[in-house]
Amino acid sequence: ACGNDQKTAQNGGGTTFISMDSHRIDEAEAVREPGTVREFELTAAPATVDLGGTEVDTWAYDGRVHGPELRIKKGERLKATLSNDLDEGTGIHWHGIALRCDMDGVTGVTQKEIAPGETFTYEFTAPHPGTHWYHPHTGYQLDRGLYGPLIVEDPDEEVTWDEEWVLLLDDWLDGTGTTPDETAAKLRDGMDHGDMGHGDMDMGGSEEGDPSQSVLGEDAGDVEYPHFLINGRTSADPDRLELRPGSRVRLRVINAGGDTAFRLAVGGHRLTVTHTDGFAVEPVEVDSILLGMGERYDAIVEVGEGVFPVVAHAEGKGAMGRALLDTGSGSDPAADERPAELDGKLLAYADLSPAEGTELEPGEPDRTIDFALTGGMMDYDWGINGRQGDHEGMYPVEEGERVRLRFRNETIMWHPMHLHGHTFALADSGVRKDTAVVLPGETVEVDFTADNPGRWMVHCHNLYHNEVGMMTLLGYL
Ligand code: C2O
Ligand code: CU
Repeated sequence: ACGNDQKTAQNGGGTTFISMDSHRIDEAEAVREPGTVREFELTAAPATVDLGGTEVDTWAYDGRVHGPELRIKKGERLKATLSNDLDEGTGIHWHGIALRCDMDGVTGVTQKEIAPGETFTYEFTAPHPGTHWYHPHTGYQLDRGLYGPLIVEDPDEEVTWDEEWVLLLDDWLDGTGTTPDETAAKLRDGMDHGDMGHGDMDMGGSEEGDPSQSVLGEDAGDVEYPHFLINGRTSADPDRLELRPGSRVRLRVINAGGDTAFRLAVGGHRLTVTHTDGFAVEPVEVDSILLGMGERYDAIVEVGEGVFPVVAHAEGKGAMGRALLDTGSGSDPAADERPAELDGKLLAYADLSPAEGTELEPGEPDRTIDFALTGGMMDYDWGINGRQGDHEGMYPVEEGERVRLRFRNETIMWHPMHLHGHTFALADSGVRKDTAVVLPGETVEVDFTADNPGRWMVHCHNLYHNEVGMMTLLGYL
């Protein structure tokens, strides 16, 4: 109706949007009935950070890992001004939010990079509640420690709890002798020459009795990390939540890692899973939860008396991050204590069903798009349909359509596939998510309603896969 008006808008010190159909984007935003504006400021800059006994020079938001928690209510407008004090361009992507496309923060796709010394103000309505997060969509910056939680509260929440604890899981590389960029260069070049020290990189395979191998397949990850963190702390000096015995705590768990799936469990407790990727599910009780990169789960735990480890086991990498639930009696468990729950009932997608009110409207797909996940370790040529990082080759969708994405994994590696700007439903169960793990050899189908015009990334949330090209774009006709 409006065509592409090629308009560029000014924001901050001369940063311009990449041309998009801003009229249609404005129209879609108006439907979201904006509420109260909540203002935040963030600065991305080099920082020295204490990970708990280990000091590292890295990049961080406001000098801390993770970055500050941003918290708003459903329907409110988030207004966040980012100052870039890094020596390279950046941006912020708001993972999980079905927001206006020109605020999606994918540099080179929805906006130009915010140059060093510049500021940029993001402003958008958050239509869905849930546990979400923010991070740059620019090179390997995420894996340097630039990430934080974005919690959108639901005023009509059905679940009740006494305490809330946001847990960000991360695999940590930066400032420990190598950077994510150097690591990526090794992955891209090293494999070709066959002489790369495999001591540097985890080639998957036989970790000591690791039960994960059966879940994710042979290769759990490409990068070997010296530390695994929960809330920016190593297991030597863990984050701790003090609470009364018998409290019901709502864990909001976010996998912010670059290349690690985590299996999360609480020693001596079962988890009642209530949400995935921000959307409510029928509560289901399990011992542990597997989170691919980008995925979130909320779970309720009724805490007994004592000090209990919350562990994030790095699948196939044989190490754990941990945090402690502490009711004020008893002593801390040993740093290497491995709760039996890690080997108990592990949540599978098949255990999930959508909570009432979260389903897509019934309907058959108007359009199905096939995405073969392709590539491998040797050539480090991860891609989609055999192509790598093709920003030009947009897959068209039309406003109002029901679209099905069919991910067929032709590789021997697992991939957490993420869609921007929408929340899809797993075709098998109707569970709403925005990131879905696709195991080797497996096909996963997801459906969404095309109701948010713009240009949207579909990609693997393994940062190293995404950056070499396991990404593509959906473009509204
Ligand atoms: Cu967490 Cu494309 O993003
Ligand atoms: Cu991948």
